[in-house]
Amino acid sequence: MTVTHPAPPTRSPVLTLIEDPAKMHEVRRRLRGEIGLVPTMGYLHDGHLSLVRRARAENDVVITTIFVNPTQFGPGEDLDAYPRDLPRDLALLEQEGVDIVFAPAAEALYPPGYQTWVELSELPRHLEGARRPGHFRGVTTIVTKLFNLTRPTRAYFGQKDAQQALILRRLVEDLNYDLELVICPTMREASGLAMSSRNTYLTPEERRRAAVLYRALCAARDAYLAGERDARRLRRLMQDTLDAEPLAQTEYVSIADLATLEEVPAQIRGPVLASLAVRIGKARLIDNLWLGTSPEEWGKTRPGSQPVG
Ligand code: PAJ
Repeated sequence: MTVTHPAPPTRSPVLTLIEDPAKMHEVRRRLRGEIGLVPTMGYLHDGHLSLVRRARAENDVVITTIFVNPTQFGPGEDLDAYPRDLPRDLALLEQEGVDIVFAPAAEALYPPGYQTWVELSELPRHLEGARRPGHFRGVTTIVTKLFNLTRPTRAYFGQKDAQQALILRRLVEDLNYDLELVICPTMREASGLAMSSRNTYLTPEERRRAAVLYRALCAARDAYLAGERDARRLRRLMQDTLDAEPLAQTEYVSIADLATLEEVPAQIRGPVLASLAVRIGKARLIDNLWLGTSPEEWGKTRPGSQPVG
């Protein structure tokens, strides 16, 4: 289904929907100017839209992709339940002045016989990667394919999925992509709960209680800002905050080196990622704060060149 016919080379008030990868290549060949890419799995919220707005402000053409990528879901995960509403997403993106939406079917990107994977060796071993085997292989493979299909000048990702953003920064560097990867701040509800498509799995009561994730992270941040540098004490503060909420089942709390994502055993000496994963009701929620740096500051360094420890 195409809403209008081939995208003009520069910004247009009308959105073009592309489903066929061959068509995406064809349209891309005719585009001129700087191109901003915002990859998503749809069911858009203000977090996604903050990336779209930034891309709109910084580029001539904005491409958003909507694709619930089956290869990044493990067996028993929520692939089938994952919320979808393409008509609503298209209306939101049109309002934001997006030029092109690429929303292929799963079989279009993974046809029978598909067998090529992009995988990092170290960063996916930790945190989310340790609990979701194969997840980041799916993410890095699909994002590589989306980079090849859209050849962006800039690609926008959220700090909300910090490990994903750090892995993709490494991928851009390692595979010599000629693009700028931009990491955008986490958008939150008034309660502090990070916006997420998966928040729809929560009942209103659970959603209210889910603010405990951010409270736990803030407890660690406040202690860090007050001078605490013992990673064990920061993890303990997060865990104690979560333990006070009976609906929250902690999967992990972590204070990890931002460069390697390895757990900091004792004394903090460089920038760290404070992160956690918590189950509340049917939802598995993740969140994080960066201590000792910000995505903007971190973005100025080359991945792998940061002081370790
Ligand atoms: P999805 O979960 O739909 O998220 C798309 C982008 O929006 C990601 O870069 C994510 O970090 C960002 N995002 C999500 N919630 C946010 C929030 N509250 N504030 C700011 N940004 C937020 O992440 C994926 O999809 C997929 O793994 C994808 C990269 C599309 C590959 O399939």
